[in-house]
Amino acid sequence: MIVYYSGTGNTRKMAEEIGEGARSVGVNVEILRAEECNVEDLASADGVVIGSPTYFSNVAWQVKKLIDGSISLYGSRRLKGKVGGCFTSSGTRRDGEECIRMIELAFGYHHGMRMIPGIIRASGDDEEKVSRICREYGERIAKRILKE
Ligand SMILES: Cc1cc2nc3c(=O)[nH]c(=O)nc-3n(C[C@H](O)[C@H](O)[C@H](O)COP(=O)(O)O)c2cc1C
Repeated sequence: MIVYYSGTGNTRKMAEEIGEGARSVGVNVEILRAEECNVEDLASADGVVIGSPTYFSNVAWQVKKLIDGSISLYGSRRLKGKVGGCFTSSGTRRDGEECIRMIELAFGYHHGMRMIPGIIRASGDDEEKVSRICREYGERIAKRILKE
């Protein structure tokens, strides 16, 4: 499951490319916008990858709403042990790192998901390189899920 919010399309492009990478190794991929995703969707997936634009060094509120809603899965530890990933599109890499940290704290540290270190697209990055990194990231996460 890939869940993302995107204001101007950059994060959406990353989501689609991560999805392509994952599909290329034979897993079923569902891509949902954060606004149309509920916490049961997260709980039912074998792996969850979350993307947000970097807004003020943090996630967009649409993603934070989903994170806060996921407290209903916390008591029963329903996300624990799932493979996870995250990605952001940001103006600067440094601010993107903070956004990634927020997602990794919520799903890795708190929920106990096994997070594969997140990826960042920063303004000015070579678009072809970003696409390759996204596809490889999707492949990596899918292979990790298949191994289990
Ligand atoms: C409300 C808002 C806040 C932003 N805050 C930051 C920020 O703190 N640091 C940064 O480097 N870029 C910031 N940006 C730039 C976005 O992270 C960047 O344009 C990103 O690629 C947008 O992704 P999207 O096309 O998926 O919406 C901000 C943009 C907006 C609209």
